[in-house]
Amino acid sequence: MAANPAPQMMNDPHTLGGQDSVWFKLTPLLKDTEDPMGMLMRMAGKYGGAIPLTMQDQRIVFLTNPEHFKHVLVSNAENYIKYFKGLKPIFGRSMITIDGALWQKIRTPQQAAFHPAKFEEYHPYLLASLRSKADRWNGLAESGEAVEMVEETWTLAADMVCRALFDREMPFNPHFVFGMVKAYTNVNNHKIIRSKQMGGRYVDLSEEKAGQAMQAWGAVPESVIGADQVDHRMGTLLTMLQDAEADPEFPEFDHQQVVDEMKQYLWAGTETTALTLAWCLYLLSQNPEVKEKIRAEAHAVCGDGEPDWEQAQQLTYTKMVIQETMRIYPPIWSFIRTAAAGDEIGGVKVEPGDTMVMCAYAAHHNPEFWSDPEIFRPERFSPDRMKKRIKYSYLPFGAGRRSCIGGALSQLENGLALAQLLRKFEPEYVGEVPARISPTVTLTPGADTLKFRIHKL
Ligand code: HEM
Repeated sequence: MAANPAPQMMNDPHTLGGQDSVWFKLTPLLKDTEDPMGMLMRMAGKYGGAIPLTMQDQRIVFLTNPEHFKHVLVSNAENYIKYFKGLKPIFGRSMITIDGALWQKIRTPQQAAFHPAKFEEYHPYLLASLRSKADRWNGLAESGEAVEMVEETWTLAADMVCRALFDREMPFNPHFVFGMVKAYTNVNNHKIIRSKQMGGRYVDLSEEKAGQAMQAWGAVPESVIGADQVDHRMGTLLTMLQDAEADPEFPEFDHQQVVDEMKQYLWAGTETTALTLAWCLYLLSQNPEVKEKIRAEAHAVCGDGEPDWEQAQQLTYTKMVIQETMRIYPPIWSFIRTAAAGDEIGGVKVEPGDTMVMCAYAAHHNPEFWSDPEIFRPERFSPDRMKKRIKYSYLPFGAGRRSCIGGALSQLENGLALAQLLRKFEPEYVGEVPARISPTVTLTPGADTLKFRIHKL
C-alpha cells in the first residue's frame, strides 16, 4: 500500500514514543519483562489506591481504587479530559479522542448501530466471518503451521466489523494491516527510535517503519468505503456516518470525520475483541475442563448446527468465560485522563494538567475484590454473584458516559466464535507457560507468545 514513510511522522513529538506520551513514560514501571504488571501491583499494595508519581517531568496520579475510578469517570467526569497523545495517527479526530459538546454531537448519530436491537441483523454476517475463519483453520490444520493467535483473532474481528457494520467484504489484506499497525503501537520500538534521536543520530529504520505503518493505515477506510456493498443494507453504521456527512446542519461531520470514525472502529473495535478471544483460548488451553463445558453448552443449545439468533442468547456459560477472561486480561488495562482543574483524590492533591492513570488491571487482580484473583473461574460471573460485586471493581469497558460503545457487540462476536470454532477445532497452545504479557496501550502478549497449532476435531 505505502511506498514512502509519512514525512509528518519524523521527529513528531506526538507519536506514541514521543517524550510526552504517557505510555512511553510508563515503560520504566513495566520493565520487568517476566512480570511487567508485578511492579504496579506491588506499588498499589504498598502505597494505596492513589499514588502521585513524577515520570520524566510529568505528574502522574496512579489510581487503583474503584471509588477513585468512579470519581474520575463518573461523578467528576467534567474535570477529566480524554488523553490521546501519540494515538492521533491511529484514531485521527474520531469521537473516542474528543470531549465535550462536539463528542456528544458526533456520537449521537452512531449510537443506534450499537443498540442490541440491531444485533439480530448482524448475526448472519458474524456467522459468515466465522465460516471464512473455519475455512482458513481447515487449511492450517492440514499444513500444521503454528500461528500467532492475536493475528488470527484480529483478522476475524476486522472481517466481522466490515461485514456487519459496513456491509462490505474486507477489501484489504488484514494480515498486512495488522502487521503495520502493530509496528506503530509497539511502544518499545519507539523507545529505540527516541533514544537514537536523543543520541543525536538521524532517522533510523524503525522510524521509517512507523511512518509507513501509519500511511498504510490511513488508506484503509477509503478502501472500505470504495468497496462494493454486499447486500445494499440501509441503516448500517457506514450509511449512518455518510448520512451525517451529507447533513448540511452538521458541518463538523465532514468526509475526514467519516474516515476517522472508521479508523476508530477498525482499530478500537477489533484489537480489543481480538485480544480477548486470543487470551481466552490461552486460558482454555490451561483449563481444558472449561473448554469442554463451552463445547457441551454449544452442543446442548444448537447440536451440530450454527446457533440461530435465539440460540445465541442461550450461550450463557460461554459469556461468563469471556467476562472472566477480560477480568484476568483486561484488553484496556488502564484508562488515561488529564485533569482540567485542581482536585483531591484519596488525599492526593491533583494539579491542573496532571495525568490520571486508572489501572483496571490492578482492581481486577485485587484480592480485596476477588478471591484467588489469579485463578480462572468463570463462575464468578454467574448472574446471582454479579449483584454482590463491589461497584467499579470490574471495568473492561470503562465507566460513565465515555464507556465502550461496542462492549455488548464484542461479547456476541466472541461468544459465537467460541461456540463455532471450538466445536470444529482443537487449538493446541504451543507457546511458553505462563504466557508473557507485554503491555502497550493494550494488554498485548509478548512477541511470538500466543502461538497455536490448529487441529480438526
Ligand atoms: C473486548 C472488546 C472491547 C473492549 C475491552 C473495549 C474497551 C473499551 C474501553 C475501556 C473504552 C473506554 C476507554 C476510556 O474510557 O478511556 C472503549 C471505548 C470505545 N470503544 Fe470499545 N472495547 C471493546 C470492543 C469494542 C467494539 C467491538 C467497538 C466497535 C465496533 C468498540 C468501540 C469503541 C468506541 C467507539 C469507544 C469510544 C466511545 C466514546 O468515547 O464515546 N469497542 N472501549
